[in-house]
Amino acid sequence: MMRAILLYLSHAGWARRIMLHWRLARRVARLWVAGETLSEAVTRVKAMNERGLTATVDVLGEAVTHAEDTAPPVAGYLDLIDAIRREGLQAGASLKLTALGLDIDPELCHTNMLRILERAREAGVRITIDMEDSNHTQATLDMFRRLRAGSGADLHTVIQSYLYRSDADIEALAAEGAGIRLCKGAYMEPPDRAYPAKRDVNAAFVRQAKMLLDAAKAGRGYPGFATHDENMIAAVRAYAAEQGIGPALFEFQMLYGVRSNLQAALVAEGYRMRLYEPYGTQWYPYFMRRLAERPANVWFFASSLLRG
Ligand code: FDA
Repeated sequence: MMRAILLYLSHAGWARRIMLHWRLARRVARLWVAGETLSEAVTRVKAMNERGLTATVDVLGEAVTHAEDTAPPVAGYLDLIDAIRREGLQAGASLKLTALGLDIDPELCHTNMLRILERAREAGVRITIDMEDSNHTQATLDMFRRLRAGSGADLHTVIQSYLYRSDADIEALAAEGAGIRLCKGAYMEPPDRAYPAKRDVNAAFVRQAKMLLDAAKAGRGYPGFATHDENMIAAVRAYAAEQGIGPALFEFQMLYGVRSNLQAALVAEGYRMRLYEPYGTQWYPYFMRRLAERPANVWFFASSLLRG
């Protein structure tokens, strides 16, 4: 119930307007968001790199409805790629196709992506296409395949374990040798598309992680396991050890600001760890999805506000 309310609020314009103008809320949101400017994000990535962590940086933004609104995110990603190269950061970038025009015109989105991928290819920067709600799954995978075939860039995408279709998607993508981030899924989905029960989502995550590890062992693709769930991490580790799959063949990924001790512990054990680091002024929907993932975050947020 709480999750449904928070996910509803994540795209309610009135709630966004209140929060974005509330200075205290902005300050607390900074626990999960690296900052509002590129230079703040660069500073954070440098600090992460010093601790042995890599990053994937997200220029915050969600679906746009006018073609001209895709220009700022494209410019934002080009600047980001230039900064990663100039500063020698161990970082890639994550992006959402709806921020680049997918809902307006797939050709506009394709053109925008080609510009970003050309710069990324020159700079040797990995780009990951985030996965949004299930109305965009097929269009996102179609665009991923088209761009991967045509751009020559190091392009990855995301599969969400909660969708019924994901076993089949993973099987196909693994055969193609695609780089895949596996996550449980963060959107509100109907029961005819996604498992409603958490235990089924967890079982799917473990099943799909094994499929991706098998493919990586056979030299096909490079998986990233994006989870803070210790049971999922333990299952990945156990299967990799059992199959003799070394830690260079996959990575773990977590969100900036979540379970820092676990991140450090895994790095100390020799695992690769990449942090999702969002920055920008459009932090509201991202922030609300993080609150929805864990009810305790709501109380943490509320008590931080009360403490001022
Ligand atoms: P789960 O939600 O079961 O949580 C397990 C435990 O982890 C919790 O008990 C809590 O202790 C901790 N935890 C989890 N989330 C937390 C939070 N926000 N704050 C504090 N503690 C938390 N989704 C999507 O739909 N499309 C995408 O492209 C991506 N991309 C992505 C990238 C990366 C790097 C990560 C880590 C996650 C995503 N996600 C995503 C989000 C993902 O789908 C999922 O919603 C969250 O990772 C939470 O699921 P967990 O696997 O962590 O487990």
